[in-house]
Amino acid sequence: MFHELRRILAVILAAYRLNRIELTHENGRTYVLKSRRRGTTISVFLGNCFLRMTGEHVEVLSNEEWIKWERSVLETFYQRDDLHSFIEATPFISRIKTPVFPGVSLHDFLSNHESSLDERIDAVMWALISLLEMHQVELDWGRGVCRRFSHGDATARNVLVCRESRSAVWIDFDTRHFLERSEQERQAEDIRVLLFSSATKFINFEFRQFANAFSKVMIPQNVIKCLKTQLEVSKQQMTTFQLAQSPLSRKDATTLSTLLLDEINGRDLF
Ligand SMILES: Nc1ncnc2c1ncn2[C@@H]1O[C@H](COP(=O)(O)OP(=O)(O)OP(=O)(O)O)[C@@H](O)[C@H]1O
Ligand SMILES: [Mg+2]
Repeated sequence: MFHELRRILAVILAAYRLNRIELTHENGRTYVLKSRRRGTTISVFLGNCFLRMTGEHVEVLSNEEWIKWERSVLETFYQRDDLHSFIEATPFISRIKTPVFPGVSLHDFLSNHESSLDERIDAVMWALISLLEMHQVELDWGRGVCRRFSHGDATARNVLVCRESRSAVWIDFDTRHFLERSEQERQAEDIRVLLFSSATKFINFEFRQFANAFSKVMIPQNVIKCLKTQLEVSKQQMTTFQLAQSPLSRKDATTLSTLLLDEINGRDLF
């Protein structure tokens, strides 16, 4: 019952749009222009108060911090000839212009039931592999602090998958983990969020195949250990923020956590 109430609240909160996404054309090329909507300073503040009160270890970055972090991430991972990341930040405007990356969001890919179950599961694994690669890289978190990457909001909506190249590109870096959490905890949380948010697009009886595909991906032992702890918690209860990222029913959350834990415990046998 409480799960369902939290889920309704989560769906309402998740419907709030902080940013405006537009396409812009310059010199024959198309870019994505992402800007913060007016008056969002107060919603970011209130949102962060809610996240703190509910014990989350992430924050939605203020306009200024968002621009610095997004610049750091884009420069670290996507420094390519065709990437003219255009970043503007004033007290009134914060916006970022990036090239259109190929593919569609994993969320949209999974929503399209023309793809087979195998293809849809493969797409989640491309996103997972790309995330694990990013997790290996250290970058500037501001004030001279360098730490390994974690996304902070690694949902299926924030990764683009490309069927042709069988690969994925992560986007949307305006929510960030607190560094007080260990690297392994932050990275395990990213993996859990990707798996759970993707699972909302699968049917309960497809979860076993989904969990089985996950078991074949190499993940560092210390991250797996943290993931195991997090799955044991989510088997019991999911927070409102977690449900906003992945609005699973109580039954689906329990089944998925159990199957993923079984796969992880199976790994321990080898
Ligand atoms: N560089 C890009 N190339 C292609 N598509 C993009 C790009 N950036 C954003 N998009 C599209 O716009 C959508 C929203 O982008 P993003 O996640 O950065 O904004 P958002 O405000 O967090 O939106 P949401 O709340 O839907 O996640 C993405 O799911 C993707 O479909
Ligand atoms: Mg997003």
